[in-house]
Amino acid sequence: MKKTVLAFSRIAPALIERLEQNFTVIVPDPKKGDVAAQFDAALPKAHGLIGAGRPLGRKQLAVATNLEVVSSVSVGYDNYEVDYFNERGIMLTNTPDVLTESTADLGFSLIMSSARRVAELDAWTKAGHWKASVPAAQFGTDVHGKTLGIIGMGNIGAAIARRGRLGFNMPILYSGNSRKTALEQELGAQFRSLDELLAEADFVCLVVPLSEKTKHLIGKRELELMKPNAILVNIARGPIVDEAALITALQDGTIRGAGLDVYEKEPLAESPLFKLNNAVTLPHIGSATTETREAMAERALENLTAALLGKRPQDLVNPQVFKD
Ligand code: DGY
Repeated sequence: MKKTVLAFSRIAPALIERLEQNFTVIVPDPKKGDVAAQFDAALPKAHGLIGAGRPLGRKQLAVATNLEVVSSVSVGYDNYEVDYFNERGIMLTNTPDVLTESTADLGFSLIMSSARRVAELDAWTKAGHWKASVPAAQFGTDVHGKTLGIIGMGNIGAAIARRGRLGFNMPILYSGNSRKTALEQELGAQFRSLDELLAEADFVCLVVPLSEKTKHLIGKRELELMKPNAILVNIARGPIVDEAALITALQDGTIRGAGLDVYEKEPLAESPLFKLNNAVTLPHIGSATTETREAMAERALENLTAALLGKRPQDLVNPQVFKD
């Protein structure tokens, strides 16, 4: 009998067809009523789950007694209670690498947009304010040659650093758990403590995974360490920044601006950030290009298929649960 796969977010029809070659596939359908209820009802049958954007752990998965694997269509896996997965022997897979360059592009576009006020001045132009040569009040700040600070020099951090160093002649600082000697050689990147980086960088880019250790890594104290002209970019996870403290810092001019793709609570609604011209607010689109989302879905499909057919998936987050 075929194993059952349950999707926990929308997945492309082409992908469903491919999964159906090996598995029985259940995709909750909004046309058939409450999607959450359909998901909960199907959970006990599921051997594999595929999707993104839904917290899954002890509370949600207690009834999923047949579950062997959760294949996340994301690189981040802070939505999942990995300890519980380990306890149950459930495999967890993610989709690294394929989104590195797109996410770095987005990070860099937040740097550019915040510094050159791209989104703000687009709205300004469309609102009919352009009557004469643009006054100094609408000027931005340069990006090229400024110091770029990367907090969390993983693959995405390195891809942003390359853009900054090779494209914009920016000196690179980084902080994190380990030294990256190859990158130090390649880009002249210099290691700093978090506080040193905050004090020296003109652009501070957060690319660190969310964990108990990184929750509110950037709060009032850290924002006050930054230069008054500095810009904070967060493409990692919202809770890494104390959002209330950031809003106050943006309102008070403690820092110049922020480019944000992620928030403490998503989707973001009714936020004071919406009233701030010095905050660029994007709807968590780091990996949201057609090509990259297709590549992520493909990788998630491969991981899921391998796991359910008894092979070791290539992106196993918790290899200790894999049984040959
Ligand atoms: C990821 O893959 O973790 C991105 O943030 C998209 O969710």
